[in-house]
Amino acid sequence: MDINDIVATSHFFVSRYMKPGAVVVDATAGNGYDTLFLARLLGEEGRVHAFDLQKHALDNTRALLAKNGLEHRVSLYLDSHRNIPQRVAAPVQVVMFNLGYLPGGEKDVATCPQETLAALEGSREVLAKGGVISVATYSGHPGGKSEEEAVAAWCSKLNPGKYTVMCLRVLNKENNPPQLWLIKG
Ligand SMILES: C[S@@+](CC[C@H](N)C(=O)[O-])C[C@H]1O[C@@H](n2cnc3c(N)ncnc32)[C@H](O)[C@@H]1O
Repeated sequence: MDINDIVATSHFFVSRYMKPGAVVVDATAGNGYDTLFLARLLGEEGRVHAFDLQKHALDNTRALLAKNGLEHRVSLYLDSHRNIPQRVAAPVQVVMFNLGYLPGGEKDVATCPQETLAALEGSREVLAKGGVISVATYSGHPGGKSEEEAVAAWCSKLNPGKYTVMCLRVLNKENNPPQLWLIKG
């Protein structure tokens, strides 16, 4: 794991909460790298539910899973992550968000605060006791800063008797390095 790499860092922490046979969610499937990471760790009895608004993203995710022989462990939804509770029954062990826009795709289909906050609330509803929500935020693109602030505000209001929130951020670099938020239920 390299702390210069926010995705690798999120995988490092999330992997500690994964259990074979668990139900988990990738809230932002994108090109499928996080979905593949989750599917690999689950075992045959587990299930990944992966969401994206772009068909193109889900096509990329499906192709990556097929290349790795893991399509059968994943359900893909062309739907907003705000609908997680309508699609996935509790208890969910892990929910991963990798916010922003699809690398190599349309920048105007980036995640946005309103949907992200609704999805975080929905994730909280279905999260297992002892499970974790992981959120990577990117403040360097238009709208990214306000989304990061919205995530920070939502996290800081969570009941400390029920949740522990950790934020990992790089302190000595310029150009808006990404941040990682971990919410343990
Ligand atoms: C940074 S990318 C995700 C990268 C991905 N996890 C991977 O491993 O390649 C963010 C994705 O969120 C998707 N997205 C934006 N708004 C969304 C929403 N409301 N619900 C679900 N996905 C959304 C975008 O289409 C984009 O593919």
